[in-house]
Amino acid sequence: MDIPQLTDFSAASLDAAFGAVLLEAQRGKATAALDPEAFRLEWLGRKQGRLKQIGDAWFKAAPVEARKLIGQRFNALKDQIEALTTAGADGATPPGTSGFDVTLPGTTRRIGVEHPLIKTMAEIVSVFQRMGYSVGLGPEVETDFYNFESLNFPPNHPARDTQDTLVVAGQESKPLRDRLLMRTHTSPVQIRTMLEQAPPLRIVIPGKVHRNDAADATHSPVFHQVEGLCVGSDITFSDLKGTLDHAMKAFFGSAVKTRFFPSFFPFTEPSADVQISCIFCGGKGCRKCKQSGWIELLGCGMVDPAVFEAVNQRRVELGRDPVYDTRKISGFAFGMGVDRIAMMKYGISDIGLLYSGDMRFLEQFA
Ligand code: DAH
Repeated sequence: MDIPQLTDFSAASLDAAFGAVLLEAQRGKATAALDPEAFRLEWLGRKQGRLKQIGDAWFKAAPVEARKLIGQRFNALKDQIEALTTAGADGATPPGTSGFDVTLPGTTRRIGVEHPLIKTMAEIVSVFQRMGYSVGLGPEVETDFYNFESLNFPPNHPARDTQDTLVVAGQESKPLRDRLLMRTHTSPVQIRTMLEQAPPLRIVIPGKVHRNDAADATHSPVFHQVEGLCVGSDITFSDLKGTLDHAMKAFFGSAVKTRFFPSFFPFTEPSADVQISCIFCGGKGCRKCKQSGWIELLGCGMVDPAVFEAVNQRRVELGRDPVYDTRKISGFAFGMGVDRIAMMKYGISDIGLLYSGDMRFLEQFA
């Protein structure tokens, strides 16, 4: 191919000459679209490339004072031709070639996903919402009254011990019931709900709780619970059993069985621990259920009348009617650990992973 000659170095003439070369490259690209590498070599090859040859010829012909300007224009022209080699040219591509490389990776848009704990908690909550429960929340920094006293924990109960409870510093001058601490369970929100609402009520309370536990594969000083409370006239232990049995089937699958064992919590009487048939072996016995066929999942019971009394007393202090009349109403409550359920569901062996903020772990839930 001929090398165009340049004899006039006025701006208008340079415009025309550089424009002509660009047009030639664009036409070349259009016909060479099926072989982009050949096009690149032809135009941008270091020794034999057309751009190099034209450049050499024009530089030689140019007067010294024009060389700087010509150099700048060549750099711009080179960028334009390089762009032709990477992009889909200028729409002049012949039919049959899109000028769009479908083998290139797409543009990844990283959007957030729900954390496995939040996802699990939301699923548990929604099971109860479908049974007519509303959702409540409470503060993570609580007073001793809501976290312990109103829930019928005696003054020297071991759970109040600083071994378990993370207390807020500098509270010693206050009466015990007003001292601040990090809530050790979501149960105080039962009390807060009954202070605000008269029976009947059905509420689920998801949330974060804190205990002074050393972290290991199954313990974290911060973890999550879902609490439940149902109060009305004629609420019986059968309602509790039916509700939790249905909830476990709705969450883990209809094949799951439940069983209830006598237990103790200060705020329920009678109290029970609930086990579900092992979701890994179906109840045959495996490593996960320690060969027992059952997995312990939550605590529950009938609301202790002492709790209703505490609520009534506090309601009176707040100028409200003491409407939790133990002769007319009864209720049940339950509480479950979300972290353990999420770990079972997703096969997570170390609770610490849920709090590590490690993207390699979290990305697996996207
Ligand atoms: N608050 C208890 C805990 O953290 C769990 C619990 C047990 C909650 C029985 C309840 C219940 O509402 O009835 O260990």
